[in-house]
Amino acid sequence: MIKYKLHHIGILCEDTTAVSNFYTNVLHHEICAKFYNRGEYDLTFLGSGSELYLELIGRPFSDGEQAYFEQRGPGFHHLAFEVENADAAFKELKSKGLKVAWEPDDFLFVRHFGVFDDSGILIEILEEKEPLAKPHQTESVEFLLHHFDIFSDDWQRTKQFYSNVFGFQSVFEYIYDQGGAFIYLADPYFDGNQRQAVIEVIGPPYEEPREFDFAKRFGTGMDHIGYEVKDVQQAYASAIQRGSIEFVKPYADYGTEMCWIQDANGSDLELMLPVPKKKLQAAFESKRPYQPHNPTPK
Ligand SMILES: [Fe+2]
Ligand SMILES: [Fe+2]
Repeated sequence: MIKYKLHHIGILCEDTTAVSNFYTNVLHHEICAKFYNRGEYDLTFLGSGSELYLELIGRPFSDGEQAYFEQRGPGFHHLAFEVENADAAFKELKSKGLKVAWEPDDFLFVRHFGVFDDSGILIEILEEKEPLAKPHQTESVEFLLHHFDIFSDDWQRTKQFYSNVFGFQSVFEYIYDQGGAFIYLADPYFDGNQRQAVIEVIGPPYEEPREFDFAKRFGTGMDHIGYEVKDVQQAYASAIQRGSIEFVKPYADYGTEMCWIQDANGSDLELMLPVPKKKLQAAFESKRPYQPHNPTPK
């Protein structure tokens, strides 16, 4: 089976400079690469403390991007996984019956293609033809890029999908009393240390006002980015001081502490305390998710 590695989150921007400035100035991201050719493409790759990149996409958009932008406005557009051989991955995913967005082609530093997941989210699969500079992976960053969240209409189905199709495994499951949950899916390269970014899946019934709002507006889709911070109060205060919009003040829940801000696109960003790494590593090795709160079904 082909191994898929979490690579980046594609973000459509009305104003790439404003969004890039937000991530570099407010959240101290480093710029890893820029690809710009006037009238042809405008891409910026950034990162912060983990292996996951953000890809800021400016105009001109492709037809698919333009249609998505008109529907949902600026914000999260696709997820990307890296493979060793894009053509072999294409063959495999086609044989598994995935809907194809575009067939393999060469673009800048990658050979890539697109497919859709079980919620209709676009997944780009890429092979790096020339290696992209990696973000420095260090615990000392103030905002560690930790997860990307998918809003699913059925978290169990989405978990099965990512496990069967891409070989991801669940390392964390917080199951609500009413049966909904948020879970973390780790790629096969996860080690909880050098590679610790994960996909989060939230499934109904929902818990928070922010989630009801998203469900009403979009149903399913790409919801937020999660960052680990050492002190939530301090991180919130310093992000606001550096120009972030006030959104949801720090609060305690799910046995942890968190708050929310918004980027220059108006997309939601979660700042939370670190998840116990040893628990996630043990969960990954034993193939049994860490479940800090798992009510017995009534
Ligand atoms: Fe991309
Ligand atoms: Fe989250």
